[in-house]
Amino acid sequence: MRSIVFATVWASLFSHLTASPTLTDPKHLSYKRSSMTPITIKGNAFWQGDKRFYVRGIDYQPGGSSGMEDPLANETVCKRDIAEFVKLGVNTIRVYMTDNSVSHDVCMGALADAGIYVIIDANNPLYSINRLNPEPSYNSEYLQSVFSTIDAFSKYDNTLAFFSGNEVVNDDIESTLAAVYVKATTRDMRQYIASRDHRKIPVGYSSADVNSNRIPLAHYMNCGPDDQRSDFYAFNDYSWCNTDMERSGWNQKVKQFTGYGIPIFLSEYGCNTNGPQRDFGEVKALMSDSMTHVYSGGLVYEYSAGPNMFGIVNITSGGADEMLDFDKYRSALAANPAPNGDGGCTLTSNSMPCPTKDANWLVDGTSLPPMPEKAKVFMANGAGTGPGLKGEGSQNAGDGDSNSGTTTAPAATATATTSASTSKASTSKSTSTSTSTSTSVTGSATTTTATPSSSKNAAGNSVGGPVSQGPFAVTGVFVAFAVIGTLLL
Ligand SMILES: *[C@@H]1O[C@H](CO)[C@@H](O)[C@H](O)[C@H]1NC(C)=O
Ligand SMILES: *[C@@H]1O[C@H](CO)[C@@H](O)[C@H](O)[C@H]1NC(C)=O
Repeated sequence: MRSIVFATVWASLFSHLTASPTLTDPKHLSYKRSSMTPITIKGNAFWQGDKRFYVRGIDYQPGGSSGMEDPLANETVCKRDIAEFVKLGVNTIRVYMTDNSVSHDVCMGALADAGIYVIIDANNPLYSINRLNPEPSYNSEYLQSVFSTIDAFSKYDNTLAFFSGNEVVNDDIESTLAAVYVKATTRDMRQYIASRDHRKIPVGYSSADVNSNRIPLAHYMNCGPDDQRSDFYAFNDYSWCNTDMERSGWNQKVKQFTGYGIPIFLSEYGCNTNGPQRDFGEVKALMSDSMTHVYSGGLVYEYSAGPNMFGIVNITSGGADEMLDFDKYRSALAANPAPNGDGGCTLTSNSMPCPTKDANWLVDGTSLPPMPEKAKVFMANGAGTGPGLKGEGSQNAGDGDSNSGTTTAPAATATATTSASTSKASTSKSTSTSTSTSTSVTGSATTTTATPSSSKNAAGNSVGGPVSQGPFAVTGVFVAFAVIGTLLL
C-alpha cells in the first residue's frame, strides 16, 4: 500500500518528463474553424488583411496567482467569459498562463466564433527567466516549455502574438541585465516558429514602464540584426489616472516612441487610484490621431476581480457578475471605435540604435548568449509535449544546459526538484501580497509607472501581478510531496 502511494506520488511528479507523441488526440483533428484573418505586421502597425488592426482588449486570468489554471483549457470557464467579452466589445484577450500539455481547440474555436484574438504569454511562473539570476534560468527546460506553448497555439488563426516575457526587467537596476536573456528568448521563439513552419506569429516583450530604463530597454529589443529584433513591443502603463494626455505624460511617451519602427501597444493599462470608478478615458486617447501613428491600442487590466481591485467582473459560483467598471469600459469602447484609414502609421519598419551601458542600463554590448545545445534539437524535431503548469519549473533547473528537460533519471531529477524548491523559496524577496506596488503613480512621464505586474516578490516570475505567488504555492506542494516520500521510505 505504502509503495503504491509512493509510486503514484512520484509518477505524478515526473509524468511531465515522459516523452510522448503529439497530435494523436483526435480532438486536434476536429479543429476546423478558420474564419479569423490572421493578424500580420507591416511598418509600425498590425493588419487584418489590408485593414489596420488595433488591440482593443482585456487581460484575462481568472483565478489569478493561486489558481495556476489555464482558462483556455476549461470549456465551462471560457464560454462563461467569452459571453462577457462579446458584451464588452473587445477584440483581443491576453492570457498569462496556459497549459502547453493539453488541447485548446474548444476555447480557441469559441473565441474565433466570437471574433476574438488571443495574445499568449509563452512563459509562466514555473518556466521563466529569473530576473535576479537570469543566466542559469535560460536553459533548455525553459525553452522546451516556451516552444511547446508555441506549438500548442500556432495552429489557431486567432493567435495574435506571443509574449516572450512579462516585466522581467523592473525598477531594480540590476534586473536590466536580464534583458539579454529575454532578447535571446525572443530570438529563439522567432527562429522556432520559422524552423517549424508555423505561421509567422509575431513575438515581442511585455515591459514594465520604468522611467530609468524605458527607452534603453525599448531600443534594445529593437536593435541589432533582424533575426534578434522583436516583431513588436508592448508595455504596462498605469500612468493615466482619470486624467489626460498631458497630466498622464502620454504625450511625452508618444514623442519618445515616434519613429520606433515596429508596432507598440499597451499590454496592461487602467490605473485605478483616482476615485472609486475608472472612466477609461485612455480608450479615446488610444484611438485618437494623437496616438495612432505610434500606438496600436491596448489591453485593460483586468477581467476578473481579485484582491488588487483591478477586475471588472466578479466571478462567483453563480457566474460572472459585471461590476461598475465593466459598463464604463464597454461604453468607452463603444464611444471610440477604431479609426478608419491607416491612422498615420508608417508602412516601413526600422531598427533603433542599441543603447550603451550607463548607470541605469547595465547591459554592456549587444551580443546574445547562444541557444543552449539541447534546445537546438527542438528546431529540427519539435519540442514535444510541454510540462504544462505542473512541472517542477525551470528557473533553477541547472547551470544552463547541464540539466535538460529531457532528463529521465528519477534520482537526479528528485535532487533537482528539491534544490529548486529550496532556492526558489530562499531567493524570493517576500512572500506577501504586493499585488500592487503603487509607490509612485503620479501621472508624470518622468516617473516610474507602478503596475500590478511589477511585484518584487518573485525572483523573476515573469507573469503578471495577479499570479505572482504561483511559484511559491507550487513549491509548497513539492516540499510536501518530498516529505511524504521521506516518511514512507
Ligand atoms: C472548470 O472550471 C470550473 C469552474 O472553476 C470547475 O468547477 C471545473 O472543475 C473545471 N473543469 C475542469 C475539467 O477542470
Ligand atoms: C463578489 O461577489 C461576492 C458574492 O456575492 C461578494 O461577497 C464579493 O464581495 C464580491 N466581490 C467584489 C469584488 O465585488
